[in-house]
Amino acid sequence: MHGMHARLPKNFVLEERLERYAQVIEVAPSHYAGSWAEACHPLSSGEASRYDRVHVDLGCGKGAYVVQAAARDPRTLYVAIDGEPVCIAYTAQHVMESGVRNVVVVPALGSQMTSVFGPGEVDAITLNFPTPFPRKKDASRRLTIVDRLAEYRQVLSPGGTVTFKTDSYPLWQFTRAQVELAGYQVLWLSDNARAERPDDVLTEYERRLAAQGATVYAIEATPGEAREGIEQTSSLSLVDYLPDDLASLGYVPHGMRGSVTNLRNRRRREQGRSHQDSRADGTSGEQSSTRW
Ligand SMILES: C[S@@+](CC[C@H](N)C(=O)[O-])C[C@H]1O[C@@H](n2cnc3c(N)ncnc32)[C@H](O)[C@@H]1O
Repeated sequence: MHGMHARLPKNFVLEERLERYAQVIEVAPSHYAGSWAEACHPLSSGEASRYDRVHVDLGCGKGAYVVQAAARDPRTLYVAIDGEPVCIAYTAQHVMESGVRNVVVVPALGSQMTSVFGPGEVDAITLNFPTPFPRKKDASRRLTIVDRLAEYRQVLSPGGTVTFKTDSYPLWQFTRAQVELAGYQVLWLSDNARAERPDDVLTEYERRLAAQGATVYAIEATPGEAREGIEQTSSLSLVDYLPDDLASLGYVPHGMRGSVTNLRNRRRREQGRSHQDSRADGTSGEQSSTRW
């Protein structure tokens, strides 16, 4: 798990937990590709033989969002996916203890969406506070990079949506460009999602980061015309999307605290050097300040 979830209770034995909550965990998800809505529907539930919709919560964390969303929306099957086994154990525990029946927990990666789901069977994908992976060399791991968006397109139903939320202005800007590259149509773009959709279910990360002063940025989009031969045109380092004036950055996005501290220190050193130089040659050092 990343960052804020890293500490586990002393008595946490992963294998034991996974076994205890195995009833809601699906370890061979590709068996259900194309039939999730029917295969997961309870047998004894009146007329209906399938769920009305399939909603994927990709990068579900500990499951706070998926459990509440599923309780509000019992005719939708929620598939909670995470690549981290500890998150799978926590989400499965939360699902079982809450008693919601319309959630399946799946250990998988975002890059496996097309083997887990059949073409057109997913009605909605939520990407709540996905791990930002700020460094250029890790950009391919982002759940909002164009390659992933192109795969989501294959499993989404006509009119299906991807809804992305983040505390990170740089990741939001990067994702806006990726959504456009992937040929999606933007349905909602927000730089204050909580104010615009106050009734949306609060995720674990939103709760914690909002308490630290985060604003929530969001994008909701649906696939438009598919594009051929897509080439990456965006800068891949999230540092490149930070504002020039780092001093004005009141809230530092989760996952970028180290980078921002390094940049601020470097800037301070450079400014110090430029002041020394200007004192030595009698000019103002202001013109030599660096653009980040
Ligand atoms: C920052 S947490 C957010 C958790 C939750 N969605 C929330 O809003 O509270 C990001 C989650 O995404 C998961 N994750 C990161 N990359 C992933 C990937 N490629 N595939 C699946 N899960 C991923 C991490 O294990 C982590 O649980």
